[in-house]
Amino acid sequence: MNILVTGGAGYIGSHTCVALLNEGHSVIIADNFVNSNQSVINNITKITKKPIKFYNVDVTNETLINNIFRENKIDGVIHFAGLKAVGESIEKPISYYFNNIVSTILIAKMCQMYNVNRIVFSSSATVYGNNSSPFTESMKLLPTTNPYGETKVICERILLDVVKINPRLSVSILRYFNPIGAHESGLIGESPNTIPNNIMPFITQVAKRLREKLYIFGNDYPTKDGTGIRDYIHVMDLAEGHVASLNNTPVGYHIYNLGTGIGTSVLELVKTFEETNKIKIPYEIVGRRPGDIALCYADVTKAQVELGWTAKCDLTTMCRDAWRFEKNQSLINY
Ligand code: NAD
Ligand code: UFG
Repeated sequence: MNILVTGGAGYIGSHTCVALLNEGHSVIIADNFVNSNQSVINNITKITKKPIKFYNVDVTNETLINNIFRENKIDGVIHFAGLKAVGESIEKPISYYFNNIVSTILIAKMCQMYNVNRIVFSSSATVYGNNSSPFTESMKLLPTTNPYGETKVICERILLDVVKINPRLSVSILRYFNPIGAHESGLIGESPNTIPNNIMPFITQVAKRLREKLYIFGNDYPTKDGTGIRDYIHVMDLAEGHVASLNNTPVGYHIYNLGTGIGTSVLELVKTFEETNKIKIPYEIVGRRPGDIALCYADVTKAQVELGWTAKCDLTTMCRDAWRFEKNQSLINY
């Protein structure tokens, strides 16, 4: 298949491009590098030794997106492009609503105009709000605490309505849990353009002594050691989940959790990182981060049964691969 990957230069998008190319699909990336750079595209090519077509475009620009659909025979779209920093979304709600929602509307519109019948959408476990884990796809969604989360709820809803008027369309809503790790080559990984919001890039920057210590946001949650519990998933497993979804999602509207189903606390994650990589991670316990919940992990049965997909990598592999990428960083970009 010829797949348009919006946000394909980003963290999850780049790993998914590798998985797609390795499966024999062709890839067209549309990205404006707001949170990535050209070296990622070069490194995808280095890993796969396959050509990529790349458009440096803002996917909220209708004329430019239309050009991509006009110039290419597209079989499916994976829509990753979006802004994703929860804290920033509270400060810049208009940017978040505009970027994430307008881009999704345009992708749906172009797919309708050009008879493209497969859409895979990057959603998030954040849409479950403060439901009780494990989260199942059929749960009633609860309010999220920030505009970022709301954009995911709204985009899911838009795509549901779009499916209702097109009996040939297949939409996969993939609700990601916490992707960490990197491709085993160490050439691509999570490399935020600003101070990391997510825990793993923060840990790897502390390991590299770019930062003095990790701040752990709260140890008074009702969990086994008081720190937050998340469902960490290797980003290559997540990437494979997209390939499975493209291949196996039937027509209609389908939601899948992509996680491992295993909950890990912040302290357990730090300990596994230290033991795997033989590096001490200094940390300080500070107050809770507003909006965080105690427990967030997936029920992954539906993706296993319907997509034939299951995450394979353990936490040790995730920590090893994340550190390999961070160590390589200065060598990669310059
Ligand atoms: P990322 O920031 O690394 O990748 C997003 C990519 O989209 C970047 O390369 C960025 O430059 C590009 N982009 C953003 N706005 C754009 C626009 N208007 N036009 C063109 N390109 C644009 O993020 P990621 O971690 O790879 O996340 C990908 C998707 O998955 C996002 O939609 C995110 O909300 C969602 N998601 C991520 C996580 C996570 O923990 N990383 C969890 C749940 C959901
Ligand atoms: N944490 C720290 N210190 C840090 C960063 C995080 O202690 O510097 C803790 C958090 O409190 C939480 C855990 O580490 O308990 C994971 O935090 P992340 O910021 O890495 O991830 P979140 O679970 O908060 O959110 C992520 C994505 C969201 C997505 C959500 C889906 O950032 O976009 O997973 O579950 F919606």
